[in-house]
Amino acid sequence: MPLFYQHNINEVTKLGIWRIEEPPSFFLEKVPLKNDVTHPFKRLQHLAGRYLLPLLFPDFPLGEILIADTRKPFLSSEKYHFSISHSGSFAAAIVSATGRVGVDIESITPRIRALAHKFVGESEQQALPGDPQAVPGDPPAFPGEEMLTLIWCAKESIFKWYSLGEVDFRRHMQFRGPILRHADGIRMPFLFEKGITIALDVEARVFSELSLALAWVIT
Ligand SMILES: CC(C)(COP(=O)(O)OP(=O)(O)OC[C@H]1O[C@@H](n2cnc3c(N)ncnc32)[C@H](O)[C@@H]1OP(=O)(O)O)[C@@H](O)C(=O)NCCC(=O)NCCS
Repeated sequence: MPLFYQHNINEVTKLGIWRIEEPPSFFLEKVPLKNDVTHPFKRLQHLAGRYLLPLLFPDFPLGEILIADTRKPFLSSEKYHFSISHSGSFAAAIVSATGRVGVDIESITPRIRALAHKFVGESEQQALPGDPQAVPGDPPAFPGEEMLTLIWCAKESIFKWYSLGEVDFRRHMQFRGPILRHADGIRMPFLFEKGITIALDVEARVFSELSLALAWVIT
């Protein structure tokens, strides 16, 4: 089933994940391709992300999308705020009629461990659960790859929500803890400090059977 996940967050905000199983022609029937994405698979991901937007809100004006200098896509009318992400065969989108949004979807892989020092600050490490695979006696470790991927996803979603670029992932976005696990998923409190100081609750989900993590933020 191509619409793999849909979450109607409230009356004006919806999120969806599409599992890409179709050829480009399927999406091109609905999506005007303005973007010069030449790599075939990236093009397919791009098309699937756009395809989700009117699927969530049928009056979404796909043809009016503009691209900012930062590469962020937006509607100048601000009829909707939206954010898109892709990872492998999955594309995710969040659309809101009222609030600024950001979304990120990522595969959970061991590679994230090698990058952790680039996006997890020292004070954040204290607030995060340790690595379940850590060997007793080793120096304090970063969290495990699932938690690291969630933190990465959360920060990428905040980056997209902020939209103005030039964000230092260690300095300007701080995980504050504690992680709240609720019936549907996970809530992660962050503090964003760049120009403005704002507390952000990032929502996240893990699709364990697919090793997939998703995070989004709305204000
Ligand atoms: C822009 C960025 C967030 C995209 O993330 P990604 O994981 O490469 O790709 P995703 O599939 O999740 O997202 C791509 C989508 O984000 C959107 N996007 C691109 N630039 C954006 C921006 N500046 N703001 C908001 N959204 C943006 C687009 O919709 C794009 O898809 P599309 O071109 O098909 O429409 C990422 O490349 C980036 O620059 N991150 C910050 C990098 C950084 O500072 N890292 C340092 C920490 S170690």
